[in-house]
Amino acid sequence: MVIVMSPGATPSDVEAIVEIIGTTGGEAFVSRGVNRTIIGLVGDVARFEALDLRAMPGVADVMRVSTPYKLVSRENHPERSTVRVGGVPIGPGTVTLIAGPCAVETPEQTLQAAEMAKAAGATLLRGGAYKPRTSPYAFQGLGEAGLRILADVREETGLPVVTEVVDAHDVELVASYADMLQVGTRNAQNFALLQAVGGSGRPVMLKRGMNATIEEWLMAAEYIAQRGNLDVVLCERGIRTFETATRNTLDVSAVPVAQRLSHLPVIVDPSHSGGRHDLVLPLTRAAVAVGADGVIVDVHPHPEQALCDGPQALVDGDLAELADVMRRFPALLGKTAA
Ligand code: E4P
Ligand code: PEP
Repeated sequence: MVIVMSPGATPSDVEAIVEIIGTTGGEAFVSRGVNRTIIGLVGDVARFEALDLRAMPGVADVMRVSTPYKLVSRENHPERSTVRVGGVPIGPGTVTLIAGPCAVETPEQTLQAAEMAKAAGATLLRGGAYKPRTSPYAFQGLGEAGLRILADVREETGLPVVTEVVDAHDVELVASYADMLQVGTRNAQNFALLQAVGGSGRPVMLKRGMNATIEEWLMAAEYIAQRGNLDVVLCERGIRTFETATRNTLDVSAVPVAQRLSHLPVIVDPSHSGGRHDLVLPLTRAAVAVGADGVIVDVHPHPEQALCDGPQALVDGDLAELADVMRRFPALLGKTAA
């Protein structure tokens, strides 16, 4: 069982629960988040139920959940959630376009990419200042200088910023510049990082590990939620299969499956899954058609000069088509572009 405390719960409300659980011979594990405290109960459920925990001061919800992930499960949270990033919704009823450069390279390149993104209908700007690269010799990102560029471009364009953090020690710094923190596929089961972003006070976009099952992905999200942060957006970005024609295989089924199992919004990254410029628009259409709550795409003013992932970036000439997809496709599903 899991107890979610209300934001105004006091330390003595929490203490009272720990104490009463102790009287049943059970154990209460307290996770204190920035927004709320969550208490996981281990022991005899029938004895817990006899306590009427719901009536105790400071208790917002008591959940009995059969899935291994509890807080992100849809079992006791049938309504699908909407996560707001700098006021922009990601959730049911809308399709949010997040776009921008794969990596922040220069102020000019980032601003141009952001303007391209905005012209295509993007309401959130993506861009990596810390790049998780296969090779230690490849461009690793500009670090804090890149975060400063993102903040300046946000100022100029009004687009809130989504950016990746790759190290638990950098979470506070990245959160001081970003509107949403991204955890990438390579770190999708880095539990220390998941806990740190869970305590950051910022919404989190959690990519699916390229080798992760849907259950492992949801368990990773549970690490973030367990720290009191339920503002988590799941991102399907392709998985490793035997196929070599694409960089990864976009698992479109994962979108409705994850939406049925979890109340969290689910978006798709058609750029990193296909890994090819010519596949980004078809996969974007597939993502919206299958019910994704948003898409995140790479754009670059000069992909041939890109320091990371140039082959998958959309260019100026693609933006009219991307804008058209965002204008027409969500409406077919009774959604609006956000
Ligand atoms: C991009 O955002 C990642 O850093 C990139 O996909 C890493 O891939 P690579 O280092 O194998 O090029
Ligand atoms: C990215 O979006 O910049 C990224 C590194 O993606 P992924 O973790 O999905 O490879």
